[in-house]
Order: sequence, then structure tokens, then C-alpha cells
Amino acid sequence: MKNLLARLFGKKNTMTDITIIGNGNMARGIATRALAAGKNVEILGQDAAKAQALANELGANVKYGTTASAPQGSIVILSVPFDAAKSLVTAYGDQLAGKTVVDITNPVNFETFDSLVVAPGSSAAEEIAALAPAGANVVKAFNTTFAGTLVAGESAGQPLDVFIAGDNPDANQAVSSFVSAAGMRPLVVGPLKRSRELEGFQFVLMTMQANPEFADFNWDTGLAVTK
Ligand SMILES: NC(=O)c1ccc[n+]([C@@H]2O[C@H](COP(=O)([O-])OP(=O)(O)OC[C@H]3O[C@@H](n4cnc5c(N)ncnc54)[C@H](OP(=O)(O)O)[C@@H]3O)[C@@H](O)[C@H]2O)c1
Repeated sequence: MKNLLARLFGKKNTMTDITIIGNGNMARGIATRALAAGKNVEILGQDAAKAQALANELGANVKYGTTASAPQGSIVILSVPFDAAKSLVTAYGDQLAGKTVVDITNPVNFETFDSLVVAPGSSAAEEIAALAPAGANVVKAFNTTFAGTLVAGESAGQPLDVFIAGDNPDANQAVSSFVSAAGMRPLVVGPLKRSRELEGFQFVLMTMQANPEFADFNWDTGLAVTK
């Protein structure tokens, strides 16, 4: 009977745990870790063919679609640039109610590479949260993990540290559980406003990676707490 149902309904019958919006480098990295954790993953892209290509690359059970569809996962990860994340949260509106919405963005001013585009005393995560509907819980996570290290699942032989900031304990816990199951270490650092420091510090790290004086600080490095 189970086999018959599986044949009849195929992938559509499986629940989605995690929806990843975007089909770029971070989408690939986070989806790789999600699949390692045994999660059911959905990729939604603005271009159906690109979403399909990434889903197929990741595995036969990965669902895909376009951002015109409502995200099915209880965790929705915005793997897109900051401006796109704001537009998508606005466009989805109440379709995000009840979900944990993960902001991974680094709102760097890429024209000057000398500042963030968010005002001091704010953060991308807080700006996104202000646009989210009531009942959606925005969590900052993964902004300090580089895409290649997520695919590899480690940096310098160490599990990745994933810094998490959010105002809702259940949403923080949902992201932490996913991170643990995916073989990484979740570090819940505080409320959503801690995103200001997470985004600021990652900006410093990015300038170091772009600086030839730090020749060893490449995109395969990781930000970690050690003792
Ligand atoms: N790369 C890293 O190591 C890293 C680390 C930490 C955090 N981040 C953050 O992660 C986010 C994604 O970075 P990335 O490296 O994955 O970039 P990327 O490889 O350039 O991918 C960006 C993705 O966003 C999609 N996108 C852009 N505008 C969109 C829209 N309006 N609606 C739907 N999808 C849209 C793109 O779709 P198309 O392909 O159709 O254009 C693409 O799939 C950024 O906010 C970045 O700051 C990156």
C-alpha cells in the first residue's frame, strides 16, 4: 500500500521541512546540509529552470518551484540578496505567518565595500522582521558561514559554528535543531538585535578575505568560537 501511494503521489506526498528561496551558492550549501540532516527540502527560485537544475543536482527527492508558489516548509530560508529578501517577504505576506523565516543576508554596500547599507542601530534581519506578517518569526542565521564550507560541512576539519539570533525561543530552537542535525554547532547568541553585531562582524571578515595582506583568509574559512 505504501509503495502504491508513493507511486501515485510521488514527491508531492512528502511533507516539506525546509523551503529555500533562491538557487545560488548559499542555497546549494544550506540545502546540502539540510539533506544531510534528513530533511525534506524545497527550492523556490525566480527562474523555474534554475531551481529545477539545483534540485536535480542535489537529489531526486528535492522539490522545486518558483517564488510564485507559497513556501511549504515550516522553516523558510531566504538565500537571496538583502533587497530581494525584503521584496519577497513583502510579496509573500501572510503566506509566511506561522513560519520560521531565516535571514542569512550580509547587507554590505558592494559599491564602496566600506559599510553596510543598513543604518547604525539596525540590521538587515530587523528590517526584514519589520516587513514580515504577524506570526512569522524572523531568525538570523548562516550569515557567517561561507557557501563552500556548508557544502563541505566543515572548515579546517572542524564542524561549523552557526550563530543564531532571534526573538522567539521556539523559532530559535527550530533553527538550532536543524543546525545540530546537519552536523554543525548552533550558537544562539541573543535576540534579533544581535544581528547588528553578526552582520558587522561578518563585514569585517569579508574585508579581510578581500585583503591580499590576509592571504590565508579565503572563502573556505569559518568564524568559530574555540577554547
Ligand atoms: N556566498 C556566501 O558565502 C554567503 C555567506 C553568508 C551569507 N551570504 C548571503 O546569502 C545570500 C545569497 O548569497 P549567494 O552567495 O547564494 O548569492 P548567489 O549565488 O548570487 O545567489 C543569489 C540567488 O538569489 C536569487 N535572487 C535574486 N533576486 C531574487 C528575487 N527577487 N527573487 C528570487 N530570487 C532572487 C538569484 O536568482 P537568479 O539565479 O535567478 O538570479 C540566486 O539564486 C546573500 O544575501 C548573501 O549576503 C552569502
